[in-house]
Amino acid sequence: MQFRLLSTVLTAASIVAVSAQTQTGTLFNFVPGLGACGFTNTSTQIVASVSAHTFSTFPGATPNPNNNPICTHSLKITHNNVTVTAPIVDFFTATGVDSNVGLSAAGFVKFAPLSDGIVPGVVWQIV
Ligand SMILES: *[C@@H]1O[C@H](CO)[C@@H](O)[C@H](O)[C@H]1NC(C)=O
Ligand SMILES: *[C@@H]1O[C@H](CO)[C@@H](O)[C@H](O)[C@H]1NC(C)=O
Repeated sequence: MQFRLLSTVLTAASIVAVSAQTQTGTLFNFVPGLGACGFTNTSTQIVASVSAHTFSTFPGATPNPNNNPICTHSLKITHNNVTVTAPIVDFFTATGVDSNVGLSAAGFVKFAPLSDGIVPGVVWQIV
């Protein structure tokens, strides 16, 4: 009973720590499919990807990406008064900057036309 109580407190504390961090990076259009979290998503769904480093260093991550606790979190991205919150479903390696973030087409177009390719200077956090 006491152990269970302690672990609940620790979980709550780590969620607060994760949520507090905001970063600034470049948003790109991510094309979903079968992602690292084990979900199969499409471009018409609003889903997000983070860098391989952000994914693999998330608290609780193990070698099995399907079980990564980050898969139960979302990416909250803000730029020019627009905010989109999308479930994290995958990581990327091709655009290897850790502060970059990917959004499927349905989410990307809330910030810019797809033809823009990228949106620099978005502020994001894991929530
Ligand atoms: C992503 O795909 C999973 C099924 O693999 C589904 O449960 C989930 O709702 C999808 N996410 C979105 C935002 O549609
Ligand atoms: C953001 O919203 C504020 C308040 O509504 C407005 O004054 C500002 O011009 C907006 N900025 C942009 C980039 O749309």
